[in-house]
Amino acid sequence: MESTSIFSERVQKIQPSATLAVDARARELKARGVDLISFGAGEPDFDTPDNIKQAAIEAIHQGFTKYADVSGTQDLKEAILAKFQRDYGISYQPQEIIVSCGAKHSLYNIFQVLLDKGDEVLLPAPYWSSYADMILLTGARVKVIRTKAKEGFRLHGDGLKKAIGTRTKMLILNSPSNPTGACLPKEDLQEIGKIVQEKGIWVVTDDIYEKLIYDRFEWRSIASVAPEIRDHCLVVNGVSKAYAMTGWRIGFTAGPAEVIGQMSKLQSQSTSNPNSIAMKAAVEALNGPQESVEKMRQEFEKRRNFVVDRLSAIPHIQCFRPQGAFYVFPDVSKWYGREYQGKKIENSSSFAEFLIDAVQVAVVPGVAFGEDHSIRLSYAASMENIQKGLTRLHDALLALR
Ligand SMILES: Cc1ncc(COP(=O)(O)O)c(C=O)c1O
Repeated sequence: MESTSIFSERVQKIQPSATLAVDARARELKARGVDLISFGAGEPDFDTPDNIKQAAIEAIHQGFTKYADVSGTQDLKEAILAKFQRDYGISYQPQEIIVSCGAKHSLYNIFQVLLDKGDEVLLPAPYWSSYADMILLTGARVKVIRTKAKEGFRLHGDGLKKAIGTRTKMLILNSPSNPTGACLPKEDLQEIGKIVQEKGIWVVTDDIYEKLIYDRFEWRSIASVAPEIRDHCLVVNGVSKAYAMTGWRIGFTAGPAEVIGQMSKLQSQSTSNPNSIAMKAAVEALNGPQESVEKMRQEFEKRRNFVVDRLSAIPHIQCFRPQGAFYVFPDVSKWYGREYQGKKIENSSSFAEFLIDAVQVAVVPGVAFGEDHSIRLSYAASMENIQKGLTRLHDALLALR
């Protein structure tokens, strides 16, 4: 039957961002005076460091407020090249870099220039939900590869090989991961590198949480440890999470010049340059003092320790101890089947609803990340609120029948 909607088939295929929806609901309830504790945030709760703000203020005073280079200013590209040299040990050329309006926009551009109808993209689950929707927008298909908490959410070579088919064009990696916080060890990345090299598959590695690493885990990007895939690898990173700059909207991609060129063409016909003032601020973020990054990291590590221990002390909750990012993704499915006010808790969505209704605690249902047994909690919140929120969650569960 033909669609009667006025909207394109494309846009009808996708869902609104579940995490942003939880955020919006939390904001609305708070505005109505509800004493809500939200574990929904996908952003650091710290302020952008002062030196970065100052750079933006200076940019405004100097009149750097006009159109700029579509693919990013030269000084920002130089700062990004230096970052890749310093943190990844990779020398890229300026034509291998493009700056976009947030890492999300970088990913969107990549998918638009590389994917077509009929292509298949391998997406290890649990995954950040926006990948799936952005891929669907291109007409390509998503093939999910399940990974397990008890195996540290690692992507095994065997599983990867089995998932690769004739239409497979791309593999997405996200380490540290949103929503699990899991990091992929170097040896796994090397094995994955060999497999994708052999099969000629593109790898998109989303390293946006790179600076938030705990337990001295030796974080590496696949781009660094599998240099043989360089011609088929796109590295996405940005300033949002490391420098508490989510609202500034600066992300970047490093990869083969011809792909970057196509992304620039697309960007020139859509957003034009990323915000000129934010680009000046991003130069300061990357080139300026890095102490604030370490301070935030240490604070997140403290909170992670608390959250994992606290959740693990609640009966029937299993919580993987993540090595990065600022999320935990506990399995709460042993509580499914219980009732709250006559309604059965059947899945991650009804579990999240129950928490809001019973104790005004907001979490994101795991189903939004392709795993219905879990919920995602962000610990980008004050320690006081984290303590209060987890006590409420514990009490709510103990009161369940
Ligand atoms: C895995 C992942 N990649 C990319 C992004 C988007 O980053 P940005 O704010 O730079 O667009 C997010 C934000 O939540 C994320 O979790």
